Amino acid sequence: HRHLTGIEGLQPHEISFLLDEAEHWVEANRTHAAPDKRMAGLTQINAFFENSTRTLLSFEIAGKRLGADVVNMHAAQSSVKKGETLIDTAQTLNAMRADVLVIRHMSSGAVQLIADKVACPVLNAGDGWHEHPTQALLDALTIRRRRGSVAGQRVVICGDVLHSRVARSNILALTALAADVRVCAPSTLMPPAIERMFVTPFTDFDQAIEGADVVMMLRVQNERMDGGYIPSSREYRMRYGLTAERLARVPNALVMHPGPMNRGVEIDSVVADGTQSAITEQVEMGVAVRMACMDVLTRRARGVEGWA
Ligand code: CP
Repeated sequence: HRHLTGIEGLQPHEISFLLDEAEHWVEANRTHAAPDKRMAGLTQINAFFENSTRTLLSFEIAGKRLGADVVNMHAAQSSVKKGETLIDTAQTLNAMRADVLVIRHMSSGAVQLIADKVACPVLNAGDGWHEHPTQALLDALTIRRRRGSVAGQRVVICGDVLHSRVARSNILALTALAADVRVCAPSTLMPPAIERMFVTPFTDFDQAIEGADVVMMLRVQNERMDGGYIPSSREYRMRYGLTAERLARVPNALVMHPGPMNRGVEIDSVVADGTQSAITEQVEMGVAVRMACMDVLTRRARGVEGWA
């Protein structure tokens, strides 16, 4: 089976294909077109070992819109709490004859480990610092719809780039689609050798934001700091926050944030709720993108010609 464990390994034409497929579902969801239950009879298991609002619910809604039987496994209420290993959990889910598995885990690489052990397609819903591929796809779709194209857009990704799977997947997707990607972070939260990912690094947000078409803010992830640098909220906002004053320098730029937001830290409320914000549109695109990914990945199981 083909999985979606990351953007890494996808060809630019495959990314564009998934966006084109998602586009179809955006319109269908908006117009309440006749339901297309192409996943009817398939069982989708969402196994989330880490908290989520957007990703879990949109995968669940996406599966239900396509007619799948969707069940959720919340790790906090599962036998993981009794010490069951990841591999044993994967084999248990596999034995239930799931047709598609959606996994979120706090450890980088955990989703690939599960993908190697099961007999169905696996979608990564976020693993540690590694990747969050459907987030990058929904972000690319949002940019493409608002700007007409991803190619040539100057996208500034600002915040805790080091710990961010959202940043990593977005860098891979946006550079593959020929965007001009800048990353901005305090030096302690910038991955080493980031230039090798074909982006331009900045530590000064005011310089980075110059000429931006899209400003993508990242959440300050206090739970991932591991005793490292934790800036005070006030200090962080002053140097790296998207305030109305900063945004005034790029009045045509699109504002994005994957959520959940720390309002008043990395982004001010007036900006998050302002006219330049595409944050709720990102959430809307999330359902369409997840419908597209699950449809495409289960085509072979359904005997339909396709990508996988
Ligand atoms: N953007 C995102 O992954 O949000 P959740 O953690 O709420 O799923």
